[in-house]
Amino acid sequence: MKKINVTTSATLFEDISQLSTEDASLMQKAVEARHKAYAPYSKFNVGAAILLDNGHVVLGNNQENAAYPSGMCAERVAIWRAGSEFPDMKVKKIAITASSENSTVNKPVGPCGACRQTLSEYEINQKEPIEILFMGEVGQIVKTESLLSLLPFSFDSSYL
Ligand code: THU
Repeated sequence: MKKINVTTSATLFEDISQLSTEDASLMQKAVEARHKAYAPYSKFNVGAAILLDNGHVVLGNNQENAAYPSGMCAERVAIWRAGSEFPDMKVKKIAITASSENSTVNKPVGPCGACRQTLSEYEINQKEPIEILFMGEVGQIVKTESLLSLLPFSFDSSYL
């Protein structure tokens, strides 16, 4: 038996003004997408903006439903939109932001497990890392250099 350590690294930015021009502009687009979220039940609005390697930006936001489980997260709306519209394009990065109608979200909101799993398939297929940037409504932003760094011991098609 041996114990192993799984580590990950991320960069923490104090606010959007510390990001590169490209990252700040993508995050700003995620904010715009967040404003169009349909989240009347949770009142938790999430926006995602994906930058493709052809320079195209694909947006998504969470879409809820009165039958709660029928809703969908912003990240999966965006990545599936990108996959369906631009199947041959590589994803460079995704910016994510969340706000709540109940209180100010002032800490970074990372993608949920199901969204990480979904995004990982695209990273594996394209054989190039997808950068992930995530924030709340205000405050710090976390940036990781690859999706798989957020998903150790992940499940993939090699098991099937
Ligand atoms: N949500 C997202 O859009 N992305 C996540 O990664 C976490 C949660 C949405 C789903 C639901 O509409 C609301 O936030 C509350 O969970």
